[in-house]
Amino acid sequence: MSTTEKIIGIMGAIPEEINGVIALLQHQEKTVIGQRTYYTGTINNQKVVVVYSRIGKVAAATTVSTLLLRFNIDELIFTGVAGAIHPDLRVGDIVVGTSLVQHDMNAFPLFPIHEIPLLGISAFLADEAAVKKAEAAIDHLLDQQHLHQLISKEELMAFGIEHPKRYSGLIASGDQFFHQHQQKVNLQHHLGDVLCVEMEGAAVAQVCYEFGVPFTVIRTISDEANESSTIDFQRFIQKVSSCYSIEVIQQLIPMKKAL
Ligand code: ADE
Repeated sequence: MSTTEKIIGIMGAIPEEINGVIALLQHQEKTVIGQRTYYTGTINNQKVVVVYSRIGKVAAATTVSTLLLRFNIDELIFTGVAGAIHPDLRVGDIVVGTSLVQHDMNAFPLFPIHEIPLLGISAFLADEAAVKKAEAAIDHLLDQQHLHQLISKEELMAFGIEHPKRYSGLIASGDQFFHQHQQKVNLQHHLGDVLCVEMEGAAVAQVCYEFGVPFTVIRTISDEANESSTIDFQRFIQKVSSCYSIEVIQQLIPMKKAL
């Protein structure tokens, strides 16, 4: 393999989001750094590094820093789940982040709420071309109803997943698992146009922004960010999540000619 070949980092927060992707790897090798296991190899002849970071912004930021500094990734794809904030979103829908905000960043009155101090940025914009590519891949995936062949009817019915849709827009990240309706109301009050909430994306976005590397954050809605979230989340990640991640990554990384 030539040294100029592009390397894609693929990250999730939890094993269930990423184990299926690791299983796709050819020529797999493992490296342990800072209590994370980085799996290198190829998917469809594309060189990749796959890792799960554990949950939260710090875990995600340190993991993506290692991907950048030790594995020299040229692009980052984050795949995982999120709680729905916008009322249109349903469990099973997929969100592509066009911009990402850290909803728990608040250095007011020194800096405006949500602005990253001394960086002067509140929302990190995803790379336009990467967003377009992700949107096309997900639309194709959902059109094919491929997920319906991979996930049992029982699970699809349990979650009310019939015709999942793709949405694109603002994702909010913070070190909180939303499990009360009031948390959702508060977030909507501060950030009216947020589609969904999760715990890593905007941290990954900040690090990638600082390194000048394009990132894509793709989130499947696992719960409604309210009192039922804990139950839905556990079942969703066990039964549904990894199927989504595998299919999203397969669609995003089409077969390349071997070098
Ligand atoms: N990821 C998935 N569901 C979530 C929730 N309800 N809150 C925060 N992160 C999540």
